[in-house]
Amino acid sequence: MEMSMISIRNLRKEYANVTPLRRVSAEIKKGEVISVIGPSGTGKSTLLRCINLLETPTQGEIVVDGVTVTDRKRGDPKSRVNLVRRKMGMVFQSFNLFAHKTIIENIMMGQVDLLGRSRQEAYDRGMELLRTIGLADKALAYPDELSGGQKQRAAIARTVAMEPEIILFDEPTSALDPTMVGEVLSVIRRLAGQGMTMMIVTHEMKFARDVSTRIFYMDEGEIYEDGTPEQIFEHPKRERTRIFVRQLKVLHLEGISPDFDFLAFMTQLEEFGRKQQLSQRQIYAMQLVAEEVLMQKLLPAAEKGRKRGITLDVEYSEQENQAQMRFAYGGTSFHPFGREDDLSGRMIKGMCKGMEHKFADGENTFVINI
Ligand SMILES: Nc1ncnc2c1ncn2[C@@H]1O[C@H](COP(=O)(O)OP(=O)(O)O)[C@@H](O)[C@H]1O
Ligand SMILES: [Mg+2]
Repeated sequence: MEMSMISIRNLRKEYANVTPLRRVSAEIKKGEVISVIGPSGTGKSTLLRCINLLETPTQGEIVVDGVTVTDRKRGDPKSRVNLVRRKMGMVFQSFNLFAHKTIIENIMMGQVDLLGRSRQEAYDRGMELLRTIGLADKALAYPDELSGGQKQRAAIARTVAMEPEIILFDEPTSALDPTMVGEVLSVIRRLAGQGMTMMIVTHEMKFARDVSTRIFYMDEGEIYEDGTPEQIFEHPKRERTRIFVRQLKVLHLEGISPDFDFLAFMTQLEEFGRKQQLSQRQIYAMQLVAEEVLMQKLLPAAEKGRKRGITLDVEYSEQENQAQMRFAYGGTSFHPFGREDDLSGRMIKGMCKGMEHKFADGENTFVINI
């Protein structure tokens, strides 16, 4: 059998008030791209931090290339840490570039200090990497002069320059403006294409599905379910996985009243659309529908006496490449675009695949497909 690059055996990590990792076991082989998904607080970061010895596990062992790096009796701690750091790169949400050094200096430092490369070699390799990610013209800039997406690409280049055997990513796009997520994911995608072994904690589900060889769904202190992207996203075996995966595909909002934060909701819609990789046109159409239906039609009417709030469910079907927005509201029968002469209704009809209004038992449902 092929030897694992990393074996994690019965790993446990306790903090004073919480035990995020109860019993985690996993084998990671060369060339695997593993996305780690799960609700927040389920120990995803803790797992990565234990693997690269930023945290000391409470129990269990981690074997890297045949060396038990958690064995306290073996060698001095510093040499164990060095071994791990030599083999693993880590990319954080917050970039961690040195602010007072230029981009190329950031990329050269580790190569010179830890790999013993000459400054010329480190520079040449750094420039080569910057060119492949479109940042060669930023080599002499300082991190502050770069956008978030550019900083993260530079941070990835710095990690790759160290020639690690595996790269661990902890939510590499979570701190980024939505418009910059794509450029960072495409750099990671390219690394996957080159056969780099990677473990990626991410909330970008479409990306995780496309790029990964395996998915770890973390919950209840363990790798709750482990499978191919198809298995985890389409045929999850266990209940909690099913609930999590299902929620990712829908956006549910209830009790919408005239006071709700409409702008925050617009951002939420954009993020949902982006995670499902809807086209810019579809995202725009969803936002327009939300604005017209809620702000122009339903909420003004709600002010005139409709008591209960409005509920909105947005769901995306990948097979049909279609987003469905489902509004539910009380009161009398009311079709938001029922009038023939309604200009915004005509515009929205032109952008959508279809709409339908129903009224039964004092409850309106208005469904629109985009
Ligand atoms: N250094 C720490 N000290 C105490 N508790 C911590 C520490 N780091 C993480 N935790 C707790 O451990 C749990 C898991 O955290 P984390 O691994 O960051 O989750 P995730 O990355 O899945 O969101 C959380 O309840 C968190 O508050
Ligand atoms: Mg985390």
